Amino acid sequence: MEIAPANRLEKLRPYPFAALRKRIQAARAAGKEILNLGIGDPDRPTPDPVIRELARAVRDKGDPNRHRYGCDAPVGQFPQAVRDFYRRRFGVRLGEENVVATMGSKDAMVKLCLGLMNPGDLGIAPDPGYPTYNIGHTFAGGVTWYVPLRRENDFLPDLGEIPSEVRRLAKVMWVNYPNNPTTAVCDLGFYRRLVEFGRRHDVLIISDLAYSENTYDGYVAPSLLQVRGAKHVAVELFSLSKAFCMTGWRIGCAVGNPHALKALQTVKENIDNGTLRAVQFAGAKALDMAESLVPKINAVYRRRRDLVVKTLNSLGWELERPKGTIYIWAPVPERFGGNSAAFAEELFERTGVVVTPGAVYGEHGEGFFRISLTYPDEVLKRAMARIAENL
Ligand SMILES: Cc1ncc(COP(=O)(O)O)c(C=O)c1O
Repeated sequence: MEIAPANRLEKLRPYPFAALRKRIQAARAAGKEILNLGIGDPDRPTPDPVIRELARAVRDKGDPNRHRYGCDAPVGQFPQAVRDFYRRRFGVRLGEENVVATMGSKDAMVKLCLGLMNPGDLGIAPDPGYPTYNIGHTFAGGVTWYVPLRRENDFLPDLGEIPSEVRRLAKVMWVNYPNNPTTAVCDLGFYRRLVEFGRRHDVLIISDLAYSENTYDGYVAPSLLQVRGAKHVAVELFSLSKAFCMTGWRIGCAVGNPHALKALQTVKENIDNGTLRAVQFAGAKALDMAESLVPKINAVYRRRRDLVVKTLNSLGWELERPKGTIYIWAPVPERFGGNSAAFAEELFERTGVVVTPGAVYGEHGEGFFRISLTYPDEVLKRAMARIAENL
């Protein structure tokens, strides 16, 4: 029996990495050595203290709830660790009503939309940008208005460019700094303007802080909640995925506006049953030890970043070393006429190196490509050598 998928799935753009995975598999099956620099999924293991805490909690026979639904037997340590972390790291004080534990941030993005948006509601999302903001809108029956991120504006949205009709209708607006895919960072001044925009137009600002801990060369990423009054107009999604090499663990948090968090919590109660307690204990351990764990992880990315930037610059690019994220974002060579797919295709055919064409992140991502630094140094070195030889 053939079952037709729901119409809402047809509204989604094909998930870019699914098609890519198939092509890589086919090329590998044909005996080609592929060096995939496409996906931002840390290769380094989760730090040992976090793993030990997981093992301790999962083995703890004294805890009668260790196997139970995370929502029925919540782990107080995790939200407390989030609050402590926000206070130490950003100087932000959060109350209990300002924190919800999530299963990473991707999950929370969609659930937040389901909790906040009615069919026909408008959400503002960046272009280029992480696709899940639009996916959340679409699943909730909403519509996306894309605000361009342009190089000449340091890949920050120009709030003046948002038409008055969009300001009036928008329910939420997404921002993400340090930014995937452009690697741009922002300062507190930008967040201040954003909070003012949200307050004036009654738009909930949602800050995706997935890469706040992956920063270099002295740059320290701010939290939107550092802005006075931001807790009333904003929600921030923080994730342990990239900060602590924990992508598969599915743990993070949403912090900020209590009404929005309540809506998120209601959706969660009706869909998921919370994160395994042992994972929450381990997440608390990671946050408690952030100051000692994060620099070691970033030292690896910094080294890889310098390798890639050095190679590309020796070939004629003029890249600055990004201050944040785990990516390199670079313009495609002129002879491709700004066609990022054509560049990625030729690179793949000639070198077996996979990069992500910027166009998959939206029309304003066209003309660029993204390299992820989440691959072992050896792989990156071989990929860079092949690019240097063949391009
Ligand atoms: C900008 C951005 N936000 C959120 C996520 C999702 O992270 P997670 O759901 O693992 O927290 C990613 C993953 O690549 C991302 O690039």
